[in-house]
Amino acid sequence: MKHISILLVFVLTLYASNSPYNKGEMLYFTKACNGCHGVNAEGGGRTPRLANRTKKYLIQRLKYFKNAKVATIKQEMMVQFIINFSNEDIENIATFLSEHKKLQTRDVSEDLFGGYGS
Ligand code: HEC
Repeated sequence: MKHISILLVFVLTLYASNSPYNKGEMLYFTKACNGCHGVNAEGGGRTPRLANRTKKYLIQRLKYFKNAKVATIKQEMMVQFIINFSNEDIENIATFLSEHKKLQTRDVSEDLFGGYGS
């Protein structure tokens, strides 16, 4: 019994640090996404919010940029940041963004009315 619980703690620790969410979070900051989309993926005047969008939508958009078949200059800007992402990277970052823990969609509307961070 003791062995089983030690094993369980070990597996949980491993899972916590290597989960798709954590890997995605790491990518988000190391690949400079935060520079344009914000520290909490809240978006800004020129960039869309990414936090709490559906995973399916995010994956679809990122694959679209990765394939570099974009329609506008703004979209083209995104291509360089995503072109070297593997499908697994895209999956991980979409998990992180869609399950984003720090920003709730509600905070964004508060932001629009000057409530958040002002
Ligand atoms: C230089 C600024 C910049 C950086 C850095 C950047 N983006 Fe973007 N991103 C944009 C802009 C601008 C758009 C809006 C493009 C458009 O008009 O559709 C966008 C759009 C997106 C979208 C589509 C959102 C939607 O509403 O359709 C996703 C997803 C996205 N970015 C993810 C990322 C990720 C992940 C990274 C890091 C690897 C990243 N971006 C880095 C500027 C940036």
